Amino acid sequence: MVDVLAVSPHLDDAALSCGATLAHWAAEGRDMLVYTAFAGLPEPPFPPAAQRFHELWDLRDDPVRARRAEDTEAMGALGVKGVHGPFLDAIYREGGDEADVAGELERELVKLVEAYRPRLVLGCSALGRHKDHLMARDATVRAAVTTGVPLRLWEDLPYGIWTRELPPLPLGREWGPAVVIEPSVDAWRAKRDAVGRYLSQHAMLRYGEAPIEEQLDRHARGPVGGPVFAEQMWTVVP
Ligand code: CO
Repeated sequence: MVDVLAVSPHLDDAALSCGATLAHWAAEGRDMLVYTAFAGLPEPPFPPAAQRFHELWDLRDDPVRARRAEDTEAMGALGVKGVHGPFLDAIYREGGDEADVAGELERELVKLVEAYRPRLVLGCSALGRHKDHLMARDATVRAAVTTGVPLRLWEDLPYGIWTRELPPLPLGREWGPAVVIEPSVDAWRAKRDAVGRYLSQHAMLRYGEAPIEEQLDRHARGPVGGPVFAEQMWTVVP
């Protein structure tokens, strides 16, 4: 059994989006499991678009294995357990049936919920509408509804810095009230530490801007720079 099952689309999303909440709850003694869906190991030859990402990441030979190692360190920094799913990131999925992947992921998540019996399932809200985030979110909502486990969807970061448009939910579900979590200073520090471990992603996350940790700090204090760091998630209502 675990207290919380968090379903992360990619190797970094859970830490970026709600890492401090995870660290805070872990420090309170709750058992946390982070399942990263699109962490499957691709086989070469890689599609050209994927090769461009590999150059940006400075990872050419076995890029996802290297990213898994970063994630294992990051999860350790948060004090949570990380598990890597077998599904290929969108940049490696060519010509396959997307509906098949979505269905398989949903079945996998139902199995995970049945095996671990979490009290709460966390997923992403798909702010920014990344294809993998939408697929992971919809599968998470469907699995939570099927199994009757309470669900919250986190603010995808850094996407949430530039968009507030929550994409419509599946199964006729509606967005409920937002929940703001104010993690401890130590938990915020653990998040910064965890985010720092995803070295390969830093060039991309910097995005011509400040280092990702600074962007997250600024966003978490709100537009007026409040004294408290916060993370945000939403409830889902029928
Ligand atoms: Co992502």
